[in-house]
Amino acid sequence: MVSTTKTYFLFLSSVFLSLVSSLNALLPLQTYIVQLHPQSVTTSYFASKLDWHLSFLERTVSVEEEGEYSSRLLYSYSSTIEGFAALLSEPELETLKRMHGVIAVRPDRRLELHTTYSYKFLKLDAPGVGAWSRSKFGRGSIIGVLDTGVWPESPSFSDHGMPAPPKKWRGVCQQGQDFNSSSCNRKLIGARFFIKGHRVANSPLSPELNPEYVSPRDSSGHGTHTSSTAGGSPVQMASVLGNGGGIAQGMAPGAHVAVYKVCWFNGCYSSDVLAAMDVAIRDGVDVLSLSLGGFPIPFYDDTVAIGSFHAAEKGISVICAAGNNGPSINSVANEAPWVTTVGASTLDRRFPAYVRMGNGKYLYGESLFPGNHFPKAERVLEVVYAAGGDMGSEYCLEGSLSRAQVAGKMVVCDRGVNGRAEKGEVVKRAGGAAMILANTEVNLEEDSVDAHVLPATLIGYSESLQLKSYINSTKPRPTAKIHFLGTVTGRSQAPAVARFSSRGPSLNNPSILKPDVIAPGVNIIAAWPQNLGPTGLIEDSRRVNFTVMSGTSMACPHVSGIAALIHTAHPNWSPAAVKSAMMTTADVTDHYGKPIMDGNTPADHFAIGSGHINPAKAVDPGLVYDIRPADYITHLCSLGYTRSEIFTISRRNISCKEILHKSKGFSLNYPSVTAVFKGKETVKVINRSVTNVGRPNSIYSVEIRAPEGVRIVVKPKRLVFRRTNQTLGYRVYVIAKKGAKPVSSVQGELQWVHSRRNLYRVRSPITVSWVSKQSY
Ligand SMILES: *[C@@H]1O[C@H](CO)[C@@H](O)[C@H](O)[C@H]1NC(C)=O
Ligand SMILES: *[C@@H]1O[C@H](CO)[C@@H](O)[C@H](O)[C@H]1NC(C)=O
Ligand SMILES: *[C@@H]1O[C@H](CO)[C@@H](O)[C@H](O)[C@H]1NC(C)=O
Ligand SMILES: *[C@@H]1O[C@H](CO)[C@@H](O)[C@H](O)[C@H]1NC(C)=O
Ligand SMILES: *[C@@H]1O[C@H](CO)[C@@H](O)[C@H](O)[C@H]1NC(C)=O
Ligand SMILES: *[C@@H]1O[C@H](CO)[C@@H](O)[C@H](O)[C@H]1NC(C)=O
Repeated sequence: MVSTTKTYFLFLSSVFLSLVSSLNALLPLQTYIVQLHPQSVTTSYFASKLDWHLSFLERTVSVEEEGEYSSRLLYSYSSTIEGFAALLSEPELETLKRMHGVIAVRPDRRLELHTTYSYKFLKLDAPGVGAWSRSKFGRGSIIGVLDTGVWPESPSFSDHGMPAPPKKWRGVCQQGQDFNSSSCNRKLIGARFFIKGHRVANSPLSPELNPEYVSPRDSSGHGTHTSSTAGGSPVQMASVLGNGGGIAQGMAPGAHVAVYKVCWFNGCYSSDVLAAMDVAIRDGVDVLSLSLGGFPIPFYDDTVAIGSFHAAEKGISVICAAGNNGPSINSVANEAPWVTTVGASTLDRRFPAYVRMGNGKYLYGESLFPGNHFPKAERVLEVVYAAGGDMGSEYCLEGSLSRAQVAGKMVVCDRGVNGRAEKGEVVKRAGGAAMILANTEVNLEEDSVDAHVLPATLIGYSESLQLKSYINSTKPRPTAKIHFLGTVTGRSQAPAVARFSSRGPSLNNPSILKPDVIAPGVNIIAAWPQNLGPTGLIEDSRRVNFTVMSGTSMACPHVSGIAALIHTAHPNWSPAAVKSAMMTTADVTDHYGKPIMDGNTPADHFAIGSGHINPAKAVDPGLVYDIRPADYITHLCSLGYTRSEIFTISRRNISCKEILHKSKGFSLNYPSVTAVFKGKETVKVINRSVTNVGRPNSIYSVEIRAPEGVRIVVKPKRLVFRRTNQTLGYRVYVIAKKGAKPVSSVQGELQWVHSRRNLYRVRSPITVSWVSKQSY
């Protein structure tokens, strides 16, 4: 996260200041999330749930602090977990843990936004017309976005033509710094902020150094960007700095948006995130969009997993970013089976800006710098690398460049360490005239580019080697010129997997393929606060209504918007059915009909899950794999979760022994198929059932592409549906061939193909892996 402007300051209520000062004198306090047993309250005894929650603090907080125990309460939860978040010292924590009715206590956890910043200006693509016409642009659906807040005056939140919110809506427009009830309208129907956990964890940090609005207003731009991507209104002639032009709009331009600000200058705290989910469930959202998360942890410790379980139970689709820790395997986060986990892909737009070296050779690069508006930007300049000799000058770190050596020149900066846009600012301040950003082995050919403050282009790793060798071997004066060629669409291979997109298999639950789908997350244009420059840097005095960003943070709200479209088209579908529709219709080929690529090789299932989201097909999938909340419990049992762990997640006190006995051979009815062979196992039988949401009298036959070394048998091979809403089961036999050498994993697919072949293809990826019995 970048701090963005000096013009406003963190506002602390006097209550909070006095709280902090009185606490600092005593034992150090920390935020804990305390989960209670819902049945342990005798409600007649307490006037309210809140009183009951407070009674735990009353009995815990030491007597010297009498009267203050209630000020220790940060949040009281009821829709997600039964419990509260509170400030506790170590000894108090020990006391509390032993109390009757307390079932779990976990420390607050810091999560992060799933973004790699890159700023670029481009027009937002509209999804398939078919999806919009079938779903009335998402009319009537409500998307809740947990993020950094919103800039309500952005034209993307205009409510022109929007109907009033549905009657069930119970949200509010919470007042705060520079934010009024009049800041909401029929597009932005709700806004709240949750800051208590962040405040406690960051109270020693000077608020003056980290100014931000204490209100739902967005100080960083991330939340404005994601919420407009999901549900932004159409904006004609969206242009930035007079450059480019087109209609910008969200995936569900007819949907309502409610923002829940949970991320602040130092990240997003789980107590705040849980509080927002707790309230959003009661407010009446249909979709929750979370472009945030941490590293994968077990579901019973993961507040996003716990909160989303209860959201899903109430029929709310929870869509989460997979994280930006790719291409390492096992990096996917937010991987609970009841959420939709979204990885990032590229668009087919390029912004070529070639470097012509003094030796006449060209290097491919990309830039959003509006070169044609600044012809002076295209000049032959002396090019320098690591100028100044100071530590970090190759990265163009703050203060590392020598003015004498870079003034008036084109400066090469390696990617990494500091922000990309920040490097441009450093070069500019040292007197540099232009910049070439050079990818390293970490980024290879990834092309997230930015709206730099000076003429600049980004080159890939192999180009950077050529450039450096040219500079190295050319004495006395290597030169270069950047040729800006503007925007080119449709000519490159896309979608492809974004290199940063987190990969499976899931660490916590390798028996479910994650991520579920990929969606556009590279160089996405969407709304931006009107008091920030397009780079988000304090020094950037330009003003825009739109800018470009990259990350799975940007991919997630695309899917949230599409889930809202499906919700409008099929209001009775469960979150599992909505997810199934998006997964089984996803594309596995790019728009040339070639396999979706991941760098130089075809992408595997751990990079793309079921594939690239296809909204037009997702609103009419033919068949869906449905899952009841109770099935998730059985699934957790089959994973070996204990009774108390399952209770923590679901508030249900069940006996796994009984459940597993009753459902021998159970498999979660997931829209993708995963078989994990343990030890010497060679056969797995996996059950699935599909519900016909297409036409009556539909016949489907199975088509199989078996993974290498594995035989796949599906029984029956034909499914004959007489009615709509009819559900039929089938079995998948996964058989390891004799003598097959167990490599770590192999992949294939199965499809149910409608007898009118072009009507529906319902696809599931198949992933088979082997683990030694001990390591499972
Ligand atoms: C808050 O409301 C008042 C009028 O009630 C208005 O003058 C003011 O501009 C509003 N502020 C914001 C940030 O909307
Ligand atoms: C530049 O040349 C020197 C020796 O002349 C060599 O050690 C160095 O590796 C070269 N650097 C690059 C980037 O080619
Ligand atoms: C941003 O949008 C507002 C409202 O539509 C408009 O008045 C303003 O001129 C726009 N700013 C820029 C930089 O385009
Ligand atoms: C769950 O039920 C069992 C027996 O039915 C009981 O012993 C146990 O205390 C219960 N656990 C919780 C967390 O309610
Ligand atoms: C699996 O499917 C078969 C045939 O459809 C059925 O007989 C069996 O009961 C199913 N098992 C479970 C656990 O659902
Ligand atoms: C299918 O089921 C849904 C809800 O369960 C219902 O609203 C719908 O009318 C049904 N459709 C048909 C054709 O039976």
